[in-house]
Amino acid sequence: MSDNNTPIGVFDSGVGGLTVAREIIRQLPNESIVYFGDTARVPYGSKSKETIIRYSRQIVRFLRTKNVKAIVVACNTASAYALDTIEKELDIPMIGVVKPGAKSAIANTRNKRIGIIGTEGTIKSELYTEFIHGIDPDIEVLGKACPLFVPLVEEGMLHDTVTDEIASRYLNDLKKQEIDSLILGCTHYPLLRSTVGKIMGNKVNLVNPAYETAVSLGELLNQKGIAADKTNSPVYEYYVSDAAERFKSFANSIMPVKTEMIRLVNIEEY
Ligand code: DGL
Repeated sequence: MSDNNTPIGVFDSGVGGLTVAREIIRQLPNESIVYFGDTARVPYGSKSKETIIRYSRQIVRFLRTKNVKAIVVACNTASAYALDTIEKELDIPMIGVVKPGAKSAIANTRNKRIGIIGTEGTIKSELYTEFIHGIDPDIEVLGKACPLFVPLVEEGMLHDTVTDEIASRYLNDLKKQEIDSLILGCTHYPLLRSTVGKIMGNKVNLVNPAYETAVSLGELLNQKGIAADKTNSPVYEYYVSDAAERFKSFANSIMPVKTEMIRLVNIEEY
């Protein structure tokens, strides 16, 4: 196996990052993936920056044992809190989901009013806002934490009147703010795209950072000359810190490729 065919490490606080992994599989079908979901310590969205950095460092150490050539931080909260610190400690490329999502929203907004929904941690970090203002300080950025979205998705309540009701409570204020782009700034939210779209209306462009991250990853791999060979048959490996069966059934409900083997890892050992 040439170095270029070694896997990409992808990690998240749990199952949500599978929305990023599935975009990588769709857009970069020759790339192998080692996915780690921190199902024992989810959620990250309500934890402190220090804790998220510590968890992310452990996961990166674990992924390095799998000889990954690059790391994707699929979790918005970890991208917001830990990416800047950890990428400086690494000699392989690392990308998160915040910048690709923000870039796409900036490129597409016409009225310079962008909304962001995410976990409490992501919204509190203001990283999306900071990044957007670094590129265009005239853009108005409006954030809203939607903490109940994650459990609703994990309960499989993607099309449910309870989810509709909660979503309209969260989004009603944003709707009045006349944004023309809304970043779905949490791993789970692309799975609520139709619910959010119904409430926001068809004039609001919904930005899926998972999709944009896979695009950026493809560009990064080409730029570094480390994209997998066109003939490479990819291998997908999944690791979790707890509840492998639950992870498996969620994975099999959203992934384009059947998820067979999921292994448990004691992540505190790394
Ligand atoms: N993966 C997290 C994120 O994208 C959502 C779930 C959690 O709070 O851990 O921010």
